[in-house]
Amino acid sequence: MNQKHKASPPDLPRSDWPAHANFPSQALLLGSHENFRDISRHLVRESMQAWALSPTRAPRVDLASLFRRWKRGMKSHEGYEEGKLYPYLDAKYGVSMAVLEMHHRIIGQVEERVYAAESEGDALKFAHALKQHDEVLVPHLAQEEEMVIPLLLALKPKEFARYSRGHISGLLRELAMEEKEMKDNG
Ligand SMILES: [Fe+2]
Ligand SMILES: [Fe+2]
Repeated sequence: MNQKHKASPPDLPRSDWPAHANFPSQALLLGSHENFRDISRHLVRESMQAWALSPTRAPRVDLASLFRRWKRGMKSHEGYEEGKLYPYLDAKYGVSMAVLEMHHRIIGQVEERVYAAESEGDALKFAHALKQHDEVLVPHLAQEEEMVIPLLLALKPKEFARYSRGHISGLLRELAMEEKEMKDNG
């Protein structure tokens, strides 16, 4: 696709985000990510401690159920990203988010190891799988923030409001129309 008529992706280092006029209202993703990091850290710490205290005991039921509930929430976060955020930013700026989608698949594979360890009743495996999950999740969140936040901040507040309210199919149609108008006007 001809990218000439797309908005050029801004280059805004992380240290400049808090001073941006559209921060924090257009960077709410950061709050959800912070929450994910906290829960993940808690699960790793608690599962390791539980294993160290009683190595022959099965994984703690409360930790396994927290993980399952948390992952349900994270699935809808990922669904929003893949279904709306990534396609919109790709269409607007011509920046592929494929690497982030690949991360989601990898995170999903490691998630399965947590469930496997839980059903085996192996507390050490459970703690290790949670650690592995943390080790793929944390870099994903950082890279996603680096790729997405500058693009979100660069949207004019009116466009961000339209984005927030709109359904992806209508939003993509509008972007295509705007792009065509820009092309037609040279
Ligand atoms: Fe993500
Ligand atoms: Fe995310």
